[in-house]
Amino acid sequence: MSVRIVIGAQWGDEGKGKIVDILSAQADYVARYQGGANAGHTLNFDGQTHILHLIPSGIFHHNTVCIIGNGVVIDPVTLLEEIDMVKNAGVDVDGRLLISETAHVILPYHKSLDKVGEMALGGKKIGTTGRGIGPAYVHKIARVGVRMMDLEDPDLLRKKMEVNLTEINARLATYNAELLELDEMYELMLESGKKLLPFICNTTDRFHKALKGGRNILLEGAQGALLDIDHGTYPYVTSSSPVSGGACTGTGIPPTAIENVMGITKAYCTRVGNGPFPTELTDMTGDKLREAGHEFGSTTGRPRRCGWVDLVALKYAVQINGINELVITKLDVLDEFETIKACTSYNIGGEEREEFPLRPKELDEVKPVYTEYKGWKTSTRMVKTYEDLPENTRKYLNALSDFLDVPIKIVSTGPGREETIIVGDL
Ligand code: GDP
Ligand code: IMO
Ligand code: MG
Repeated sequence: MSVRIVIGAQWGDEGKGKIVDILSAQADYVARYQGGANAGHTLNFDGQTHILHLIPSGIFHHNTVCIIGNGVVIDPVTLLEEIDMVKNAGVDVDGRLLISETAHVILPYHKSLDKVGEMALGGKKIGTTGRGIGPAYVHKIARVGVRMMDLEDPDLLRKKMEVNLTEINARLATYNAELLELDEMYELMLESGKKLLPFICNTTDRFHKALKGGRNILLEGAQGALLDIDHGTYPYVTSSSPVSGGACTGTGIPPTAIENVMGITKAYCTRVGNGPFPTELTDMTGDKLREAGHEFGSTTGRPRRCGWVDLVALKYAVQINGINELVITKLDVLDEFETIKACTSYNIGGEEREEFPLRPKELDEVKPVYTEYKGWKTSTRMVKTYEDLPENTRKYLNALSDFLDVPIKIVSTGPGREETIIVGDL
């Protein structure tokens, strides 16, 4: 039996989809535990690109069972579209896709609230994905949320929606936003619920049967450690717990069952949306990273902010997640750089600091202190073993691994499945 959590160690988009897809070849179960369709996980194989928002990235491996855990917030309409998308790609989902009956539902009114929530913030917008994530989690915590099981109960569903909508319309009115009608929304949810019914079940029990049966389980994080509601750069965060701890609450798998926590980082760093980003490059080097890495959001298409890798932030991610396996992606993006930098400490108000500050004011004042590495100026794509990587590349990667004190398990040198170096045994 093995349970491995795979998490993003930065601000999301580290390449979780690609890595989970690869690891899924050896997994019996692959599950999402938090977030919703704010995630965009990209898979590239057989000359095709698939972007998944809600379905776990193991779905293209026919022997896996894919579970959307209780910690996820589900937009039924988006999920149905995604089920159609994978079916059209030749994937059989019957009996292979399970949806937690206790997962909360994102309703159209959550998306309207997401919009006015951003309007309320004026110049201090979070820059959300607009998928209704925050408002859905607000309702969950306030204990007025609709759960997947409620889609099977027309009366309860209508009652809950009605009560929530009265309050929501009052709020929308203060922003002159379009008011929402109950009937159409209710019909849409009822109809979507009917279609999703065959997939909805007690996933907690399924996980425990799988654990008992000694199965391999992969838990796929969405977003990244620095977007975590508790540990991220609050308030510029998402509304769930992408950190490894969230995998337990978001599935019902206990901490004692977790064997490995794999942390994924790009060989540089990106962020989409607003908020602190100490190593951000707003110059031509940043533009070069964006261009070479095709850094545009998989969900919203927004250009991603780019910068050098931030080892202070990554060390923090290692600590709060208990990362014991490191994955470095998008190495190839650095192939043409003369010099590569890694931030190894922060200068805050003239003081050198090694810990990641939690106060926004301090984060805003950070001047990154960099260590420079010589570039390798040759393509790393399709290199098959770690030893075959250029010497300067290995020097850079070893420096990251040494600083973080975590062994590298995978290096990704391109978007494709085959552009991957596995270091030792997985
Ligand atoms: P996720 O949200 O963590 O799954 O990451 P995204 O899919 O949003 O963004 C990662 C992007 O980088 C996708 O377009 C991937 O196809 C691509 N990608 C993943 N690994 C590599 C890599 O090693 N090199 C390059 N050039 N692209 C990669
Ligand atoms: P994956 O799983 C990158 C960011 C948004 C915004 C903040 C809050 O593909 O890595 P939300 O819609 O969650 O309320 O937005 O979080 N964000 C992501 N950034 N990758 C993601 O997912 C993200 N999901 C949310 O840009 O700054
Ligand atoms: Mg993404």
